[in-house]
Amino acid sequence: MDDFCVVAGPSSKEIAKKMAEELRARLVDVEYKKFPDGENYVRISEPWIAKFAVLVQTTSPPQDSNLMQLFLISDLLREMGSRVVAVVPYLAYARQHRMYLNGEAISVRTVAKLLEASGVVRFLTVDIHNVEGLGYFSIPANSLSAVPVLAEYVKSNVDTSNLIAIAPDEGAKVRVETFATRVGCDYLIMEKSRDRVTGKVSSHFKGEVQLNGKNAIIVDDLISTGGSIAEASRILKMNGVADIRVACTHAVLADSAASRMKEAGVKEIIATDTIPSQYSKVSVSHLLSDFIRRL
Ligand code: R5P
Repeated sequence: MDDFCVVAGPSSKEIAKKMAEELRARLVDVEYKKFPDGENYVRISEPWIAKFAVLVQTTSPPQDSNLMQLFLISDLLREMGSRVVAVVPYLAYARQHRMYLNGEAISVRTVAKLLEASGVVRFLTVDIHNVEGLGYFSIPANSLSAVPVLAEYVKSNVDTSNLIAIAPDEGAKVRVETFATRVGCDYLIMEKSRDRVTGKVSSHFKGEVQLNGKNAIIVDDLISTGGSIAEASRILKMNGVADIRVACTHAVLADSAASRMKEAGVKEIIATDTIPSQYSKVSVSHLLSDFIRRL
């Protein structure tokens, strides 16, 4: 892209600022407010943006409002003559990438359609829940892995000599393999099942494991209720694990997820800034900027 600017969506101001600095691009601010009835209002007061607008807006809770802002800003940028590259560090609704029970909506497909209808010509996210979700876009769509930056952080900040990485389910297999290779530790994969109606999680190791006195780090893409991590921690504690940490990309942290995990024995949560929080110890801005630079 020869002529572009970075547009800071209301939910991702910090990361957009970092990206603009890294890319030496102009940062465009978006004015926004909520009407008394809850509707969103956005405005860009500059008359001309750029040929390409890199619009950064994460869709963490409140997901629907953040998505609506994303659609509104994208449509506005298109009206202003820009081609919109949507950078959505955390993509909401991506967990429903297929029908688990008959009659369910495939929500990530709807989100993909709405993004395209709002003028997005290229889509970029981080650790989409399942890459199948990218298949619903007809524009170029990519998901970058935050595992290398999480592993780098752990290598520099955690004693890895007695560490074992844990995948809480089969879906995290590739993630934990990459993480363990980069950190230089062993890994194990748990089996997890979830009641599709109640959401209750139950986990176990297939076969015997030797974990007595080990320190564990559970590696996952996202934490929502903390139920998966709390259940994994319970099993790890039962097997004699000493310290338990969690490394995840998206700390969604619904309800009392953080205290639930703490009560289950989690000593530290290490997350990225796809969703800004007190647990955002690692930034993905560099990762995203590098990708944008190569377009
Ligand atoms: C599931 O496949 C995901 O990778 C996460 O493990 C899951 O979505 C976390 O949800 P919760 O924190 O509610 O258990």
